[in-house]
Amino acid sequence: MTKLAVIIPAAGSGSRMGSRIPKPFLKLQNISILEHTIKNFANLDFVTQIIVSTSKEWVSEVELILSNFSEKTETLSVVIGGNERQDSINNALSVVSEDVNLVAVHDAVRPFINPELIKQCSSSALEFGGAIIAIPAKDTIKEVGEDLVIQNTPERNRLWQAQTPQIFQKNLLISAYTSAIKSGFIGTDDASLVERIGGKVKIIEGDRRNLKITFPIDLKVAELILDEKGV
Ligand code: CTP
Ligand code: MG
Repeated sequence: MTKLAVIIPAAGSGSRMGSRIPKPFLKLQNISILEHTIKNFANLDFVTQIIVSTSKEWVSEVELILSNFSEKTETLSVVIGGNERQDSINNALSVVSEDVNLVAVHDAVRPFINPELIKQCSSSALEFGGAIIAIPAKDTIKEVGEDLVIQNTPERNRLWQAQTPQIFQKNLLISAYTSAIKSGFIGTDDASLVERIGGKVKIIEGDRRNLKITFPIDLKVAELILDEKGV
């Protein structure tokens, strides 16, 4: 039987948003972004554990938010995050239950993940070891030097933009984190840590609603999505 633990990093400072309140605690139609995000996981029966990583100042707020889901999910917990997203996730990994076989990492600031995609991603992770939600690159991506002169233009039709959730067999993710920390490697997503130790990670095509709320304009788009005016 599949048992999935979900790690939700919510300890960032939101420097690109520039708001006094960290992004996961900003509200969309009166509900925090973090709560919108958790809802998409809490209603799935194979999700048995949810762990939120946040800064000290926000622990009690997270506990309050989590209390809304106590009937849906067996284990709910909060851990203190770290300087890098990777540290925040590593702290959460240390409290993952013995009995889960899959671990998902999902950004607190992606409130529109479709639960059907979480299911698809979980089955692929069981089959391959790891699976992530991604979308085909929309723009042409340039690789540049420090002088901003273009060095290379990778073929766009082979490029995908990684989103979350990123889901892995528990032991594979733990090995990947242990190895990255041991060698001081910092990746910008979880799959890159797993790739580094030779793990196989499959891509599941997602949708463009699963935006990561990053800049002020993303909040406006998020309101539109919630209003179902579409984007
Ligand atoms: N995150 C985290 N711990 C960190 C940094 C980020 O838990 N040390 C979380 C954020 O709270 C967010 C997710 O990782 O839910 C994705 O990160 P991002 O969108 O980059 O958020 P911030 O790092 O907060 O924003 P910025 O990079 O603009 O400062
Ligand atoms: Mg960041």
